[in-house]
Amino acid sequence: MEKYAEQTQQEFEGWEEFFNKPVDEKVENFIRKNRIYDIIYAQQFDRPFLDYLCSLADSIRLLAKTKVGQSKLRHLLPHKRAMLYFVQPSTRTFLSFQNACHILGLTTSEIRGTSTSSEVKGESPEDTIRTFASYVDLIISRHPEAGFAEKTAWVLNQTDHPVPVLNGGSGPDQHPTQALLDIYTLEREFRTIGGLDGKKIAMVGDLKRGRTVRSLSYLMKNYQDVELVYVAPEVFKMKDDIKEFLNKHRIPFNETEDFESIMPEVDAIYMTRIQNEYASDPTSDTETFPQFHLKTNHLSVIQTHCAILHPLPRRYEIDIRIDKDPRAAYWRQERCGMWIRAALISYIFGVDGEIMAELS
Ligand code: NCD
Repeated sequence: MEKYAEQTQQEFEGWEEFFNKPVDEKVENFIRKNRIYDIIYAQQFDRPFLDYLCSLADSIRLLAKTKVGQSKLRHLLPHKRAMLYFVQPSTRTFLSFQNACHILGLTTSEIRGTSTSSEVKGESPEDTIRTFASYVDLIISRHPEAGFAEKTAWVLNQTDHPVPVLNGGSGPDQHPTQALLDIYTLEREFRTIGGLDGKKIAMVGDLKRGRTVRSLSYLMKNYQDVELVYVAPEVFKMKDDIKEFLNKHRIPFNETEDFESIMPEVDAIYMTRIQNEYASDPTSDTETFPQFHLKTNHLSVIQTHCAILHPLPRRYEIDIRIDKDPRAAYWRQERCGMWIRAALISYIFGVDGEIMAELS
């Protein structure tokens, strides 16, 4: 199998040059008619876009409360088809994207592993994606390789039949739509206390290989006076590229291994799982780092308004008894994922104005 794969791996002309450009220069490639076309990196979003998307998600949510509203939403994009190409495990991202499509009337098809696609015959993932573009109007992808969504969007943009690509997670690198739903959740949780501006947020766990905390960190540049605290064991510290980004944008951050010491001072705690699927031998990477877990005795230490988030799936890092506490926001957070993704898809196809008009 390896042999076939090797034989067919040909590099696209111009890709290396594009790939090595700074992100600020690359984002233009993913814009059409003054609108974001492909969703690849969290750095693509600015504050007006984020605020607009959150209010769009609120509007979709409100409309979906009634049968008439749901029917209106379903009639927005029944002529569009989406492909979910998820070749890395996923529950929430897959289901929330699929249901977001269905809310807006899109039909969906899916590939959930390379073993059932022509990649086993030696087809490159880029050719496979190009094939999807022949049949559908939107590609949503999740892939174990960093930069995969970027490359496929770039490849499609060179063809005469490009379709938008949404990055549903590209290896340990980026998860921009998760960052959108995290922002939406934080803004909602802090709705009565001035939103996300001015808040202090702890990110805890495997910050080195966790793509959610990386993408969310990028988005902090859009908020006023936000402070970050990175809480991780030495082996899973946040990588330098993100710290350089924060310094460049003058976003204050601290790093600590003492989780309990910062609990009373933060407005949100964003927990993460150890990403041992990226270890060279996942079965030997079994250390659980209990000092980075959230336990029931911590509930009396954190602030009364502190929001507890987790992109999920959870293992042992949040005690399940915490689920009953009103500050546990992670189940609300996963529902936010479906609404913000519906908002994003409506924006991509330009039917967002119709949704907003419905409620004005
Ligand atoms: C996250 C992911 O896949 O990066 N999950 C998700 O999309 N909700 C986090 C994780 O797997 O730990």
